Amino acid sequence: MADFLSAYSIQRWLESCPQGYLVNTEYGHETGEEEPELLYSNEVIHEDAIRTTVQLVVGERCALAASSGLINAAPDEASKRFLATQTLDEARHVEVFTQRLYDLGVRKDELTDVINRYANPNLVKFAEILLEKVDKKDFIAGVVGQNIVLEGLAFSVFEMMHAMNADMNAKFAHTLSGTIADERRHVGFGENRIGSLIKTHPEKKSEVERMQKDMSYFMLATFADGFRNNETAAELDRIGEGRAHADFHGKDLGVMSPEEMEGLLADTVLKEFKVRLERVGIEYQTPSRP
Ligand SMILES: [Fe+2]
Ligand SMILES: [Fe+2]
Repeated sequence: MADFLSAYSIQRWLESCPQGYLVNTEYGHETGEEEPELLYSNEVIHEDAIRTTVQLVVGERCALAASSGLINAAPDEASKRFLATQTLDEARHVEVFTQRLYDLGVRKDELTDVINRYANPNLVKFAEILLEKVDKKDFIAGVVGQNIVLEGLAFSVFEMMHAMNADMNAKFAHTLSGTIADERRHVGFGENRIGSLIKTHPEKKSEVERMQKDMSYFMLATFADGFRNNETAAELDRIGEGRAHADFHGKDLGVMSPEEMEGLLADTVLKEFKVRLERVGIEYQTPSRP
């Protein structure tokens, strides 16, 4: 417990995050960095950037609601303090991705409309399953749903986006890398805290396993919507812009079709769920494929 206390303390958070990798950042990136010109000049690519960023805002708003809601459900003081740091991390993620929408030209008075127009309904369902557990103050299901399922998803999606943007868009890549560092801490907490709780509450297992299966289905449906209707790759080909050659789990994203990318991302996330859940003593359930 001593290691757990110091690894997830507010002191450690201050040193590694605000006084560490976020020093000298502005909304998560370096001062003066801007989105590439193509994101403004090409309508298809501009709309895709907005649609993608809206999903990030929706996911991060869910994480903010879940991490703050779980503070009062936590059975111990160390978890409450960690979740307070996570609450600020998630609020920051909401803020930096909302700021990206403004940078892309969304006006403040149209933010709600833009989010409602582009939010993927399957991602909204995914969030609702988690927030229902949080509302019931179900700490075990809430932490598995948030710190293993939601953040495992976020972690891999951000890594894939980071790989695609590292050469093309330093501003967005920097915003993502700070977020990835935060998510790594959140996932670590989930695994460390929940293993012992599952051991003392084996009766919770089947409910948690069902939640993981349901959330995973809506995650895959979100991926399907995102990749199968995506016109960006075709548009880049049409205007003769090369796609960035980017490595993600040993594959070159620059030569893959959207369907192949969907398959790779889905397999990567599900494999990570399986490993993480087994480590905490929960049996991974294979979701049906949308
Ligand atoms: Fe987050
Ligand atoms: Fe997070």
